Amino acid sequence: MADVFVMGSINQDLVLKVERRARPGETVTDAVLSTHNGGKGANQAAAAALLGASVVFLGRVGDDGFGDPLVRALGDKGVDTSLVEESEGTSTGTAFITVTADGENAITVAPGANRSLTPQDVEDARGAIGGSRVLVAQMEIPRETVRRAVEVAGEEGTRMLINLAPPFEVPRAVLEGVDPLVVNEHEAAFLLGEKVEGWTARWTPPEAALARPEVSRRHGRADGAVLAEKGATRHVPAPRAEVVDTTGAGDAFVGALAFRLAREDTLEQAVAYAVRAGAAAVTKEGAQGALPTPDILEAL
Ligand code: RIB
Repeated sequence: MADVFVMGSINQDLVLKVERRARPGETVTDAVLSTHNGGKGANQAAAAALLGASVVFLGRVGDDGFGDPLVRALGDKGVDTSLVEESEGTSTGTAFITVTADGENAITVAPGANRSLTPQDVEDARGAIGGSRVLVAQMEIPRETVRRAVEVAGEEGTRMLINLAPPFEVPRAVLEGVDPLVVNEHEAAFLLGEKVEGWTARWTPPEAALARPEVSRRHGRADGAVLAEKGATRHVPAPRAEVVDTTGAGDAFVGALAFRLAREDTLEQAVAYAVRAGAAAVTKEGAQGALPTPDILEAL
């Protein structure tokens, strides 16, 4: 039996380190460009595998030549990528990321092939989902695909973790099949009905984990997570870590959380472990390249 089945995005990240972001109509120069392996799904799969989980990944890349190296690199980290296929006539997902000196990121994604992952693909993977302890999904793939995954996980008795990133309105019935639900502070605001970029949520979160693996700009360090369970909330602090780049910190958190839940930690124990993974991931540049191994977590 596998520990974790991750379905989700796999992206090529184009990262610009900038002094400040350009305003509309403005040109800024002197940015430094680097490319990294990314995609929330792939990052979360890699995070769990690097910490010792057995992981199966379901995703789609384009037939543009960019997908192959991303999939190979995921396999090199120990992830089973046998369910990853090329979608004809599509481009591999690409994320355009700016990172400022305080380590904060802003991300725009061109989803490309990630959008071609269908509910039928989930159905086809039913055996592997049923053969895994925890199913993890995020929202960079079609919503109907995630919805089918929640149903299949329920039918197969697999625990379902959803990272509602980026946030979308999801029917309450779907959210109620999820345990835990993981959101950052923007996604939490969306869920709680506060206006975020013109959207308003029409429902409140179920009794599940409401986590905030984000970095506080005020303190310049990882802030930890808020765990909300059975009507009670608790702040789980993160260890001190120097913030270089926050990209992928939430994914490190999710991958570590899924791994520990698969190994039957309580939610509280798993969150305490996951905040350490999130904190470690902010200390290096890039998404997958910054994910911690167990020895790095121990040294924190
Ligand atoms: O969470 C970070 C990830 O979001 C990046 O790797 C980028 O690809 C986007 O999916």
